Amino acid sequence: MTEKTKYNIAIISILLILFVVYNGFVYTSKENANPVILTEQALHGQRLWQENNCWSCHQTYGLGGYLGPDLTNVYSAKNKGPQYIKAFLNSGVKTMPKFNFSESEKEALVSYLKFVDSTGYYPNYHAIFKPSGWIELEYKNEK
Ligand code: HEC
Repeated sequence: MTEKTKYNIAIISILLILFVVYNGFVYTSKENANPVILTEQALHGQRLWQENNCWSCHQTYGLGGYLGPDLTNVYSAKNKGPQYIKAFLNSGVKTMPKFNFSESEKEALVSYLKFVDSTGYYPNYHAIFKPSGWIELEYKNEK
């Protein structure tokens, strides 16, 4: 082996070691891990939401089916809120099916919708159009 080859092997080995160490760091770092921030009750509600296909008729942030209204902010909307949400769940109004949720399941769904509501506004009327062309949005969870 020439000196040059030994030198190249040394450089490549160092790069390889750095690569392995860096990857080890990236994949074990907790910095960008997504912590679950829903309470147990809200998680239960999310499960019920998914199992009962609420998204097939309802939207959150404008995404979902369009048979029923968007529910992003139903929790904090004027004249709506927890009791209002619960009232819909087992009553079967218009095309919304009559579900048979227990009291604790209703509470769980309310808890999930409370969490959804806390993440922002839809539609977001809190946008400020700046002269620079940028739009500044207000987010509930950044306050
Ligand atoms: C087959 C379609 C359909 C499914 C599935 C459905 N809904 Fe609905 N939902 C509707 C319709 C339509 C309305 C509007 C009824 C009205 O205004 O009289 C509604 C209204 C509501 C309202 C009141 C919204 C408001 O702003 O007035 C809530 C809360 C609600 N649904 C929750 C749910 C939840 C939670 C689920 C899943 C467990 C669900 N819905 C599943 C069709 C559906």
